[in-house]
Amino acid sequence: MNTSTEPVILKLGGSAITDKGAYEGVVKKADLLRIAREVSGFRGKMIVVHGAGSFGHTYAKKYGLDRTFDPEGAIVTHESVKKLASKVVDALNSFGVRAIAVHPMGCAVCRNGRIESMYLDSIKLMLEKGFVPVLHGDVAMDIELGTCILSGDQIVPYLAKELGITRLGLGSAEDGVLDKEGKPIPEITPENFEEFRHCIRGSGSTDVTGGMLGKVLELLELSKNSSITSYIFNAGKADNIYRFLNGESIGTRISPDKGYEA
Ligand code: IPE
Repeated sequence: MNTSTEPVILKLGGSAITDKGAYEGVVKKADLLRIAREVSGFRGKMIVVHGAGSFGHTYAKKYGLDRTFDPEGAIVTHESVKKLASKVVDALNSFGVRAIAVHPMGCAVCRNGRIESMYLDSIKLMLEKGFVPVLHGDVAMDIELGTCILSGDQIVPYLAKELGITRLGLGSAEDGVLDKEGKPIPEITPENFEEFRHCIRGSGSTDVTGGMLGKVLELLELSKNSSITSYIFNAGKADNIYRFLNGESIGTRISPDKGYEA
């Protein structure tokens, strides 16, 4: 069991909780309820960040939000991911988790697609008072571009750095970062990354935010400048989320070089 009082961050990938291939937002209801039950088994402080899945990528692509400023498309996409957030929060609360949705559109400002600042005081207080803030991939305001697509994969390392959180978990639809044979790579460090880079998949057809390679690059960058360790594991397999939250090392571990000194 994880006895530490330090908060952890759990990202639920869009493909873990939605049918990512669907044209409109479709929740994987049974998976979401199972995940919510597993999360409720963790007694420590936690932030949940979930992806947008078919509630975001389909609209973002339809309106070209990764390339253009389209106010109508931004609203449609934001409203859609808000719906997903409310389903996630409802599922968590049905198991007594005390979850509260925090929409990045209302608290983050980006520049050229990267978070420039984010209002965190309410999140800090929520953690202090035993709530579980739930953030998600969203459309966000951008100083240069008007709006941008802000992936949960960027929110997770940002929060970790700003809030001093050292344990992150990304629940995806695969057993970790897979090698050429489809087996999870146990550990990726800045040292061995190039060895594996070519076999890590980029974004699929409807994913506008970079797929597995995008996630690995974000987490690797983070580990280079900190002592933050991340795990990418299969959230579709029963008990994996519970095991991660309670301190087990599962899936692919992304960590600083062995010789790293804080
Ligand atoms: C993408 O969020 C946000 C939008 C498309 C609006 P994520 O990048 O976090 O979503 P997933 O995990 O790939 O579904």
